[in-house]
Amino acid sequence: MLTPSLICPVRNCACRLELGPWGARCERGHCFDRARSGYVNLLQPQDRRSSTPGDSRAAVRARQRVLDGGLASVLRRVLLQAVGDCRGKMAGSEVSGLSSVLDVGCGCGYFLAAVCREFAAEGWGVDLSSAAVDAAARRYPDCRWLVVNADRSLPFADAGFDLLLTITSRKNPAEFRRVLRPGGRLIAVVSGEEDLAELRERILGEALAVDRVAGTVELFRGMFDLENEYLARDRLFLERPALADLLISSYRGARRRPQEKLARIDAMEVTLSHRLLMFRLAEGTTYK
Ligand SMILES: C[S@@+](CC[C@H](N)C(=O)[O-])C[C@H]1O[C@@H](n2cnc3c(N)ncnc32)[C@H](O)[C@@H]1O
Repeated sequence: MLTPSLICPVRNCACRLELGPWGARCERGHCFDRARSGYVNLLQPQDRRSSTPGDSRAAVRARQRVLDGGLASVLRRVLLQAVGDCRGKMAGSEVSGLSSVLDVGCGCGYFLAAVCREFAAEGWGVDLSSAAVDAAARRYPDCRWLVVNADRSLPFADAGFDLLLTITSRKNPAEFRRVLRPGGRLIAVVSGEEDLAELRERILGEALAVDRVAGTVELFRGMFDLENEYLARDRLFLERPALADLLISSYRGARRRPQEKLARIDAMEVTLSHRLLMFRLAEGTTYK
């Protein structure tokens, strides 16, 4: 079983990075320390636009409370079903099983850890937020966690992963194609049109029904073909703290809106809805 190889993110280097207990180092001597919690920060100065890029610590904590509170249990179940289907489709292809999974924009690691536990796969999580990756590394030391700007490039050698996940997160089609093994699969999770619609309407004054499926299929067109689609939908009656956490951790726009409207809601029923899109590399596509 081949394991994914890391490559040095320093501009014009791209040597193989050796990962050890101390951190990561390439043969040209570029070094990246391992944080106490276990993650390695590979961000280069050109990769960041602020001193604390990606989700803030407050957003990460809100997301953790949402996940710990079981609010994503339906999404988790459907994701595991989709990954099981991927594994079934891979059997007999160039990829004979599910040994390595990369989660792009992994946040606090909840979904990657669940997938790796269920399928005994090697998990790699990358995120731009060091607060998110720190939280992931503390809680799930069995996976590998890196701070990376996935909009630029992924610090991995070609064709190292059997499965890529992007869960309401970043999508970099060219890099996804490059690091996915022939026969591998990509699962992109996007918010459904009715996700938190009741709450968005009350707080933001409107609940735009955005079809993210069509946009995602279009984004990957020519590189990935849509193979299957799943819906994860739930209706929950939630009190104000959980509603606030959901808004903060899901909708960037909502973070800046006044909190007064939320303060007037004690509890309400909300819809949680996500679409899971399973893709395979487009016919005739190779990673080169
Ligand atoms: C809505 S959160 C989803 C997190 C996680 N996938 C989950 O479902 O719990 C989006 C994540 O994308 C990360 N992110 C934003 N820009 C990024 C980038 N350029 N590269 C990698 N991650 C990024 C954020 O820090 C955040 O953790």
